[in-house]
Amino acid sequence: MPILHDGEVRVRNIFLSLDPTNRLWISGEETYLPAQHIGDVVRGGAIGIVEESRNRHMKVGDLVSGLLGWQLYYTGAGRGLAQLSRIEGIPLLAYHGVLGAVGLTAYFGLLDIGRPQAGESVLVSAAAGAVGSLVGQIAKIKGCEVIGLAGSDDKCRWLTEELHFDAAINYRTASLDQALRESCRKGVDVYFDNVGGEVLNAALGRINRKGRVVTCGLISQYNADDPVHNLSNLSRFLIQRARMEAFIVVDYLSRTREALPQLAEWLLEGRLKYRVDLVRGLEQAPEALNTLFDGSNQGKLVVQVSPAP
Ligand SMILES: NC(=O)c1ccc[n+]([C@@H]2O[C@H](COP(=O)([O-])OP(=O)(O)OC[C@H]3O[C@@H](n4cnc5c(N)ncnc54)[C@H](OP(=O)(O)O)[C@@H]3O)[C@@H](O)[C@H]2O)c1
Repeated sequence: MPILHDGEVRVRNIFLSLDPTNRLWISGEETYLPAQHIGDVVRGGAIGIVEESRNRHMKVGDLVSGLLGWQLYYTGAGRGLAQLSRIEGIPLLAYHGVLGAVGLTAYFGLLDIGRPQAGESVLVSAAAGAVGSLVGQIAKIKGCEVIGLAGSDDKCRWLTEELHFDAAINYRTASLDQALRESCRKGVDVYFDNVGGEVLNAALGRINRKGRVVTCGLISQYNADDPVHNLSNLSRFLIQRARMEAFIVVDYLSRTREALPQLAEWLLEGRLKYRVDLVRGLEQAPEALNTLFDGSNQGKLVVQVSPAP
């Protein structure tokens, strides 16, 4: 352990959040954050507990979250770390999901960029995942018709039976164009895209007049040797005068106070449900990360690296 200097803290990491963006961060390319290099501690969001402190803003026992990295202990000045203010009745793991970056992504991506109106149809890809499942539920709360795309029949059942999506399509077994024609009979007013590639193209083929495409993620492309560039349905996008806008959740960090009380309220009322896929042991993190890309993760992927208080 390095010795603590004035202003520094030591944090024991508890829950490490595994996210598709980890794949982009280790690509060696500049993203919305600086490129990572061989030999760096792998960047990653985590929740941890302060165990030693020479920083007057953080005391022993405080729970904090931020880019603590893929390691057992973080030692440093704590820049960018946020104190977690726990709400009674909400488990610590929810702060990686509904009340963390995932919840903010779903909330602002859908409401600020997608701007759904009651009665409109909202299509979501990776709908059984951490972000997608919240997007669909928020759209239902706003009175929309919600159709989800997911990669297994089990995930589709969870969407319709427990989250009350109006329809769910297993994009791996269905003929996508035909399934979208059948499930989105009125077309698509908002497409929340977590996937990109061929799924995006199929969704553009159903977009309605003045429709909105929210570009949240392109997970089908993050590992692709040969990225898909063929968006043959762009002509429909033009004819329908639709709009496509991308965002990164960090753009909304200054507005977290708008979203978190509302997300917490919906969570406590049981109107937002979530699943956590909990893996134990830091050494499991690299293997676990791959499950985001083969679809075997069941909900928000988290690695527990030490006991929770
Ligand atoms: N813009 C932002 O600020 C922001 C913030 C957070 C996340 N995101 C993006 O949001 C998306 C979802 O992230 P998440 O954390 O919620 O992960 P997640 O949905 O919990 O897990 C990823 C899911 O993506 C699906 N998937 C993987 N490869 C696919 C492919 N080739 N085609 C179609 N689906 C595929 C899999 O579900 P299936 O079983 O359904 O295939 C997998 O379970 C990602 O694209 C991520 O980069 C963006």
